[in-house]
Amino acid sequence: MTHAVCPGSFDPPTLGHLDIIGRVAGLFERVTVAVLVNPAKQGMFTVEERLDLLADAVEPWANVDVDSFGGLLVDYCTSHGIRAIVKGLRAVSDFDYELQMAQMNKGLSGVDTLFMPTSPAFSFLSSSLVKQVATYGGDVSAHLSPPVHAALTARLAGQRQDRS
Ligand code: PNS
Repeated sequence: MTHAVCPGSFDPPTLGHLDIIGRVAGLFERVTVAVLVNPAKQGMFTVEERLDLLADAVEPWANVDVDSFGGLLVDYCTSHGIRAIVKGLRAVSDFDYELQMAQMNKGLSGVDTLFMPTSPAFSFLSSSLVKQVATYGGDVSAHLSPPVHAALTARLAGQRQDRS
């Protein structure tokens, strides 16, 4: 069975992420979207919140599930019988670091990485840019699914209230 993982921080998941996940779902029998648990970095959303947002977003694809992982991605792959990591590439600037990680992961475990070019509509999109723009009142509704946009709006409103 061909089982691939789409790993990331997904803080929050954008339409760019969903573009890649949906296309990977058409190529592999099973796809796991794996959210990194990174104790060193506090996100805007907890890992549980990101998993909930992702679970809702991937509902259209019956062969896609969501999970979280800590430590090395290749250890997660090995323990779950995953033979391929799929990463989206937005631009050449992504390639340098992604290639380093792909080669390190291959050397560590034999797990291969496949790169999928993002659709042009999402080539400038990142979770951090979306958060930054939304924090200062910019409209990011075109870049997020409606539930993710609602969650982000609510989180920012809560943060503003906490500060006042
Ligand atoms: O969405 P991101 O933050 O670009 O995702 C990066 C991610 C989670 C794929 C990467 O940081 C990762 O695989 N982290 C797990 C730790 C690990 O395996 N590090 C070694 C990479 S060679």
